[in-house]
Amino acid sequence: MSTSALLRKIKLQEAATEQKIINFYDEATEDYLYWSKSHNMHFGYYIPFKNTFLKRDTMINEMNKQVFKRLSFSKKNSLIIDLGCGIGGTMNYGLLKYPYTSIVGATLSQRQVELGNQFLKDKNGVIIEADFRDLPIKSSSSDGAYAIESFCHVGHSNAALAEAYRILKPGASLVIADAFLRKEPEELCSVSYYCYEQLCKGWSVQGLRSIYDLKNALYKTGFSEVKIENISWKVAPSVLHVPFAILGFILKKLIKKENIKSQSWSNLKGSLFALLSGLHFTDFGYYIITAKK
Ligand SMILES: C[S@@+](CC[C@H](N)C(=O)[O-])C[C@H]1O[C@@H](n2cnc3c(N)ncnc32)[C@H](O)[C@@H]1O
Repeated sequence: MSTSALLRKIKLQEAATEQKIINFYDEATEDYLYWSKSHNMHFGYYIPFKNTFLKRDTMINEMNKQVFKRLSFSKKNSLIIDLGCGIGGTMNYGLLKYPYTSIVGATLSQRQVELGNQFLKDKNGVIIEADFRDLPIKSSSSDGAYAIESFCHVGHSNAALAEAYRILKPGASLVIADAFLRKEPEELCSVSYYCYEQLCKGWSVQGLRSIYDLKNALYKTGFSEVKIENISWKVAPSVLHVPFAILGFILKKLIKKENIKSQSWSNLKGSLFALLSGLHFTDFGYYIITAKK
């Protein structure tokens, strides 16, 4: 890696320190309720004639469905771990669909722990404040784990993959749904790199890993049967909701005469640049990755 590429990488890492991620989610989490009434903080998965393109939450919940489908766990007495769980939208989906399963979610944000546990009360799930790179969970104890748009905060790091591997039972699966680069950051054109940098800064993301690099890293960690699915076109319809969601959010704040907090502006900026990055199909892609321990 060249010196300038290394410097740019370090700068992005500084824009997404643990404290910055915590500040971002402690303050901006409630904005996401505008994005998804079902407490989800990710993009959707569109299946023509099945989901309604105009109804964002149907696509968002389809993403949850697709992730659980790939976990392939026994539906009785299983323990599933949500690595970077937000306010429990995906956990709630899983707990309703598989009532004999327990789900533990980890997040860095205390605010998300409060809101999420309130949302999940009376269900078989709990959210803990913990770093998914160092979980208070026994080795080889989980029947499945998933990470939806969360590992990007640590650049899909080897430490995150290794910790997921440690907690899984042999034969259990890790499912990741997230955006990745289709080339190394230094190979992006200047427009793509600018969008990428602004997305990372806005959303406190350390960086998106190249999908090819991630595949190698999963095998190196010990995972097998790594399956990579490019679902960019299925995610695109929900990404197209971004400008309307941003406008609606700002209008709502103006009408209610509420201030837009600084982390909310960062969130809006991250969302806008995610949309612009998404238009560069040769540089960015959205993937579901399944890997077995
Ligand atoms: C965009 S939100 C996605 C939340 C959830 N997966 C969803 O799709 O609704 C990213 C989540 O990752 C969490 N996160 C980021 N870095 C983390 C870390 N090192 N350990 C635990 N959680 C982390 C954040 O706290 C936040 O809950």
